[in-house]
Formats: sequence, C-alpha cells, structure tokens
Amino acid sequence: MKQANNPSRRRFFTQTGVGLLAWAGVPSWLQAMEGMSDMPKLPARKASPNFHSDVEIDLVCKPSSIGILPGNVTRVQQYFATLVKGPANTLTQLPGSYLGPILRFQKGQKIRINLHNQLDELTITHWHGLHVPAEVDGHPVYSIGKGETFVYEFEMLNRASMNIYHPHPHNTTAKQVYHGLAGAIIVNDDEEKRLGLPDGEFEIPLVIQDRLFDNNNQLIYARHMRDRMMGFYGDRILVNGLPNFHLDVASRAYRFRVLNASTARIYKLAWDDNTPITVIGTDGGLLEKPVKKSYVMLAPGERLDVWADFSGRKVGSRLVLRSREFSGVLPGMMGGGRGMHGSSLPVGSDYPIFSIKVTKQVSDSPALPQKLSIIKRYTLADTANPHKPVPIGISEGPMRMVLNGRPYAYNDLQPNERIPFDTVQLMEIFHAHGGGHGGTAKSAGRHDGGEQSGHKMGGMGMRGMNHEGGGKGMGMGMRHGGGMGMMMSMAHPIHLHGQYFQILRRSLDGPESKGYASVKDGFIEGGWKDTVLVMPGERVKIIKPFQDFKGLFMFHCHNLEHEDMGMMRDFSVE
Ligand code: C2O
Ligand code: CU
Ligand code: CU
Repeated sequence: MKQANNPSRRRFFTQTGVGLLAWAGVPSWLQAMEGMSDMPKLPARKASPNFHSDVEIDLVCKPSSIGILPGNVTRVQQYFATLVKGPANTLTQLPGSYLGPILRFQKGQKIRINLHNQLDELTITHWHGLHVPAEVDGHPVYSIGKGETFVYEFEMLNRASMNIYHPHPHNTTAKQVYHGLAGAIIVNDDEEKRLGLPDGEFEIPLVIQDRLFDNNNQLIYARHMRDRMMGFYGDRILVNGLPNFHLDVASRAYRFRVLNASTARIYKLAWDDNTPITVIGTDGGLLEKPVKKSYVMLAPGERLDVWADFSGRKVGSRLVLRSREFSGVLPGMMGGGRGMHGSSLPVGSDYPIFSIKVTKQVSDSPALPQKLSIIKRYTLADTANPHKPVPIGISEGPMRMVLNGRPYAYNDLQPNERIPFDTVQLMEIFHAHGGGHGGTAKSAGRHDGGEQSGHKMGGMGMRGMNHEGGGKGMGMGMRHGGGMGMMMSMAHPIHLHGQYFQILRRSLDGPESKGYASVKDGFIEGGWKDTVLVMPGERVKIIKPFQDFKGLFMFHCHNLEHEDMGMMRDFSVE
C-alpha cells in the first residue's frame, strides 16, 4: 500500500525526535512500514433480500480523463452513476464536470446504492450529512479493493438539505476527493416543497474547489509536509469542476446550493457590489427565516443555501461572487495568517469565485418566504450531560494534527468517545494543545477545565506536544505561545458524522484577534450543522443527538489533509 501518512510511521518519527524538515525525504524502508496500519478490512456488505428499495443506483468510481483547461485532458478519478430503479430526476450530471452526478432523494425513500470500485486502490464512499446506520456510513474499515462492490441500504431520514458524497478510505480521503471523487446530494421533503422555492433551472448547485495544474494540465497534489500541515491549496478556483465559471441568469430569484468541496481552502463569500448575501439554509437544511449577511464564511464540508434575487437588474448587468480578505485561519510568520501555505492564490486574499450576467428580462419572480422552517432549538435541559460536555480537543503540533490527543486508530476508543445511545449530548470543541498556556500537562488541564469544568482531558494534548517535539528539532520556529504567538494555531472545520447538530455558543479563550474580527460576522449559527469552523483560540459548544443507530461514527477535521494525518476519531454510540 502506498500511502503518504500513517500512524505507525508518525509514531516512529515522534519517538525518534526526527524534525519537521526531515520528513520530506522519507526513506523507502520506512515507507514499507506503512503496511503496518491497524485498520482491518471487513468483508464488503451485500444486498439484503428483505430491503425493498424505492431507488437503486449503481455507482462506479474509476480513473478517467476530462478536459478542464484548454489543451490536454486532465487525468482524474470520477464517480459514474446509473439509475437502476427510481424517479428519473434522481441523477443529474453536471455538464462537462468530473464531479459525480447530483443525487436527488426524497425524505422517506428507501435507497440502495451499489458502489463498484474500479480504482487501483482502496476506497469507500461516505454520505456526508446523511443520518444512516453505521455499517453504511462509509467508515474506512469498510473500504473495498479494486473489483469489489459494497452495497449500501438505508432509508432517507434527513430533512430537506444539501449533502455530499465522497470517499473516506484510511489516509487517502483528501487525495481521492482532490482527484475528482465528490458529488452533491440534494434531499427534498414536504416542509420545503410548500415554500415553492426556485427549482428546476432556477435551483443551481455550486460546488467550489481549488486545484493546482502542471504545464500539461495534470493535477498536482501535496508534495511537501507543509501541504499536509497547512492543508493543500490550489491556485485556481473551479466551480462545478469548471474554471472561470459563469452563469447567465434571468432577472428573477434563484436558489444557489453552495458547497465547499475543497480539501482545505476556506472562503469568505460576498457579492462584489456589496449586496448582502441572503442565506436561507446551512448544512442541515433551511433556517427558520432568511438572514442577510455582508459576507459568509464557508469552510470545507460546509454548505449554504442562498437566495439570489436578480429582479430589478438590467439586462447586461454583471455580478461577481468573490472571496474577500480575511486572516487568522493559518499560521503565519507575521501573524497575518497568509504565509507558509505556498499557494500563489493566498487563502484570505480577495479573488473571484464566479460571475453572473443578467441576460433575460422577466416580470415575475417568486418572493422570499419570511418563514422557512421550524427548528426546535435544543437547550442544555435537553442534554444528558449539561455540566460535562463531551470534549473534542484540537491538538496541533509539528507533524501532528490530532483530536483528543491521539491520532486516528481503529478500535482505540477512549472513555469520552463512548456515547450512550438515544441521548442528546452537549459537546465542546476547543484547542487542547496548550498554545499560549504555559507548557505543562497541568496547565493544559486547567485550560481544559474551562467554565464548565466538566470533562477531564488530563492534558492529552500536551502529552502529545511534550512527547513529540520536546522543544528540540521542531524547526521553522513553530512553537506555541510566547513571542511567536500561536504560531501553529489554525482554523479547523470540525465535522461530526451522524445526525446534524446545533451550535449553542462560540467563545474565545483570549482577546479577539484581528483575524477573528475579519471572519466573525460570517458565521451562521441558527440552523442545523454537521461541520463547524473553529478558529484559533475559539471554543464552540454544540448540542447533538445520537439517536436511531448504534455503532462507530467518525468525527474529524474536514481539512482533508488533516483528516488523512490522523485528525480524526470515532464515537461509539452504544
Ligand atoms: Cu465529509 Cu467524514 O466526511
Ligand atoms: Cu461526514
Ligand atoms: Cu484541521
């Protein structure tokens, strides 16, 4: 198995104190250790005779090639789907795109998907956002090899929402997504239907990604340790798999279904003429009512449902959706948060995402509903653990991006990672690495205690740091705290599998930074979420139900390079 990262190799490096700079030249005898991954391989799931599907899809992933830039075609990996059974509108191919077709499902449908792996490597597909049984959630333990088929069967329990399908194999998720394996899932239900939102040609999926091409139009992927520590960043924005994306629209309202399917890049979306962005939904579907924002942050894995009304605009008028300036999401030598990731399209610089031109005058347009949906807000009283949040501690260090102090390993459940079935849990995502808090496990414990003083992380994050760098051989001055100021700290989009959650509260451990101020008005808190961007120094309390299904459900950073480095853990719902 050729894999770029794995826990056993990381352990080797950390134990021997080999520094960051040495990582680049990994000798081949060490690469052989990669076979030492503890991930077992379970038999591929088969169709069960008593599952009566309403919809059945054959989904193939295989190497392919497609014209993206002028000139040579680009080698990619692609999902191809055929409808075996079900409504004709279940599959929609995005024209000219390497992205998988849009899968459209109705709440309540019984769905069977036969995943055929025709890649020369392991893969498994995960339905990001869908609430499905653990055995069909795409856990890496279910990865299948070339020529194998895995059969998913589940009932659509989700409310109307936009979700994602993408691979989830151990250590190679980012690479496969980067090479093209991703697609959007749109779920419809009756609550949404009653609103009469723009549909058909007026409902437009917009999948935003960044890519880096070589002179022959071939994709370049992470080559340096830096590309994993910071995440990998392309220099070209693709929308629905196309460069220089442009839409001709009529002078009426549209529904834009926006998905950030980049592996690491975070966007700050805003209209170039400063029209506010009208958001009607987030990861988990419609908000209670529309919100207007001057900009909206969109991290990898997150979705936005946008009401874009062009009524009143003249034929010929233009509008551009841009990513606006911000800072603080990446470590930077000057604290600005733009350096060190090596892209010529810096994260946090101002650049266009796609352009729009009004080409047709029409007189009627649907009106924006003032009430969109009913969301029952959870309170602490609904949770099983109001005084003892389940911790999700972010630890950052050279060669080590982990959660709860431990790199991902199968069957490595810690007491905090066992969740009682059929409960609603208060959870807290925070930075456990002790950045700026001294340098002992003790201070990490204090840090961790926080205001709720509930959970005991026991300084797991710090143990990681001490054990690892020990302050020597860390190279590049990547130290926490002190004068260097949160050098290693960066923003992480934390994603939890299973049911959607609600954001209870965000708070900062220290004073608000310039970077934080440049993004904070772009968070949308009122809806259902499955991914939340956690800024440096920030802690986020969420409330999440764990109902219907027992078993292993992953939680991880959706900076997919981080995920592949082991910034992932399992919850066992039991
Ligand atoms: Cu979008 Cu565990 O993934
Ligand atoms: Cu997911
Ligand atoms: Cu991360």
